[in-house]
Amino acid sequence: MPPILEIRNVTKTWMRERTGETVLALDGIDLTVVRGEFLILLGPSGCGKSTLLQIVGDLEHPSSGAFTFTGQAGGRKPTTMVFQEYALFPWRTVLDNIAFGPEMRGVVRQERYESARRYIQLVHLDGFENRYPHELSGGMKQRVALARALNNDPDMVLFDEPLAALDAQTRRVLQNELVRIWQATGKTFIYVTHSLDEAILLGDRVVVMTARPGRIKEIVLLAMHRPRALTRPAEVQALERLENLLKEEVTRALAEEESDARHDLDPIPPPRPRPPPRPRAPSRASPRSLRAADGGRIGSRSFPPWESWWPGKWWCGRGRSVP
Ligand SMILES: Nc1ncnc2c1ncn2[C@@H]1O[C@H](COP(=O)(O)OP(=O)(O)O)[C@@H](O)[C@H]1O
Ligand SMILES: [Mg+2]
Repeated sequence: MPPILEIRNVTKTWMRERTGETVLALDGIDLTVVRGEFLILLGPSGCGKSTLLQIVGDLEHPSSGAFTFTGQAGGRKPTTMVFQEYALFPWRTVLDNIAFGPEMRGVVRQERYESARRYIQLVHLDGFENRYPHELSGGMKQRVALARALNNDPDMVLFDEPLAALDAQTRRVLQNELVRIWQATGKTFIYVTHSLDEAILLGDRVVVMTARPGRIKEIVLLAMHRPRALTRPAEVQALERLENLLKEEVTRALAEEESDARHDLDPIPPPRPRPPPRPRAPSRASPRSLRAADGGRIGSRSFPPWESWWPGKWWCGRGRSVP
């Protein structure tokens, strides 16, 4: 198969706004994506998977390096993105959400609704055309997001952990659906995940990334036939291989996250040295100071003798206040 995307020596440095420090998120990424493949980007949290996807999706620029699409169909954006958060318009129905991309490109009404209906059938949403997003379950919303992405007719669909927020059952159903839809459309899918199971069930190739800065550690080819089952020996073997590759990176990523969290805390200022106690100057002429000035002491005691016997403090409950 011919390549559809070539990524050459891409690096990305982010600037943390709060602290002003720079973060090297991607370092020297070299990758060729083949037309029609289901490519998985697998790596620990914070290793730059989303950053790489945003660069390929033209949402961010690389700091250095380049990437090129080959055989791009005339003027169309070659990629669309499917996020974990669905990103649907709450005021539009399912049909209008799916028809949004062609509407923005100025495709005539009838044509854009026809294609939207085709994709509604493909993702099994028939009967839900006139519902609003709040009337749908998470799994349904993700089907709408996928149909909307496909209705833009991209060469490549980019998925950023699209099933991560769903429950295990729904996730398994949609994983199978994704494979079916990928086979039916013949599009190239790049799919970000940190789930080993998902990588095994979905991918043709798995790009294993290192902890930050994200580099390509190894590319694992998965040649098992579909539909896959995690209990079969070939799948179990592949799972173990990916697990071994990822183990060290996850440990490193966790250690880095912890050190980041410590670093991010505002430093606690050291206690200020206390000034030496000032000698108390009498602020107003009190009977006590007057008496002190008069030298009214009894032995070593500095308060006048009447305070020790005057019963006002018990009567008034005001301690050693002077009447
Ligand atoms: N917009 C941003 N501004 C600053 N830093 C960012 C930004 N996006 C990502 N990063 C940093 O880049 C690194 C990689 O992030 P990301 O690509 O989101 O990782 P992943 O998707 O693998 O979890 C992280 O350390 C993250 O904090
Ligand atoms: Mg991410």
